[in-house]
Amino acid sequence: MYVLGIETSCDETGVAIYHSEQGLLNHLLYSQVEMHNEYGGVVPELASRDHIRKLVPLIKQCLQESHLKNDDINGIAYTAGPGLMGALLVGAATARSLAWSWQIPAIAVHHMEGHLLAPMLEESPPKFPFIALLISGGHTLLIQVEGIGRYRLLGESLDDAAGEAFDKTAKMLGLGYPGGPKLSLLAERGCPDIKFPRPMTDRPGLDFSFSGLKTFALNTIHASEKTVQDKADIAASFQSAVADTLSIKCKRALQQTGLKSLVVAGGVSANRKIRASLTEMADKENVQIYFPRPQFCTDNGAMIAYAGCQRLLAGQQQGLEIFARPRWPISELSPIQN
Ligand code: KG4
Ligand code: ZN
Repeated sequence: MYVLGIETSCDETGVAIYHSEQGLLNHLLYSQVEMHNEYGGVVPELASRDHIRKLVPLIKQCLQESHLKNDDINGIAYTAGPGLMGALLVGAATARSLAWSWQIPAIAVHHMEGHLLAPMLEESPPKFPFIALLISGGHTLLIQVEGIGRYRLLGESLDDAAGEAFDKTAKMLGLGYPGGPKLSLLAERGCPDIKFPRPMTDRPGLDFSFSGLKTFALNTIHASEKTVQDKADIAASFQSAVADTLSIKCKRALQQTGLKSLVVAGGVSANRKIRASLTEMADKENVQIYFPRPQFCTDNGAMIAYAGCQRLLAGQQQGLEIFARPRWPISELSPIQN
């Protein structure tokens, strides 16, 4: 089964073709980062308009490069949420219309399920059950995963998501948008010795809170002389605090559930320091850890094509309505029967 995947939930237009037996055939990404950079963050209306401009040409290019024709495609998977409503609608309306005219099924994919399953595209994929830490711009979720659609939420952020904290702290440091990659680059030149808190680690539970780190960063910036080295030290110390906090919570989730596999995905999982800290913790705990390749940590069409393919293979599909949900708890997803 050839599945066309479409991702337009935020500031990246992603398209991919996944084959149920051959695996990933092609994936293309158009990033709007340069356009939003001018405004210091994503401008939703501009994002929607740019998806409209880029999506159909990208789909054509993806098919052409894969030497496939329209009628080779057996199903279309599109991100239906969570995300920006206008941006989601572009992908949903395009996917639904193409599926209708090609007379094939369409399936609405949950963006965070896409992230969660992204490591399945790698050479040695994780096996169920596992713990998943999803760290993106909008969400920080710790989930016990028994199978596709069988998700037990163990913890989440009570305020800012991990990526949001990176972006806001980067902004305070005078770095552009998107802040996460820029902050981590600066952090490489810094010393992580400033004593940032490790929020909510001194009490039981698996929830997160990152807004305090942002405030601590702001106060530290104000108290410093704001030299490049000061900023690099603040970036490194902030990043270490996030990495430690995530490691402590994952370790706790693994110990509580007795599970021996950990999946880490979402944009922030591209961060080298965070990958290293979590890998070190997993090694000590004798746990297998799985990440997507850095390119598939951030938003992409491949993860949507993969997730949609699994649901289509299980016989699920969407009706003729254009389905988009800006807010969509992952725990509401239906399990697939296998
Ligand atoms: O998953 P994603 O591409 O989009 C959402 O679903 O939100 O995640 C984007 C987030 C942004 O907050 C971005 O700053 C962060 O991931 N991010 C990083 C890195 N690369 C992306 N944060 C820290 N270090 C990175 N290398
Ligand atoms: Zn994402």
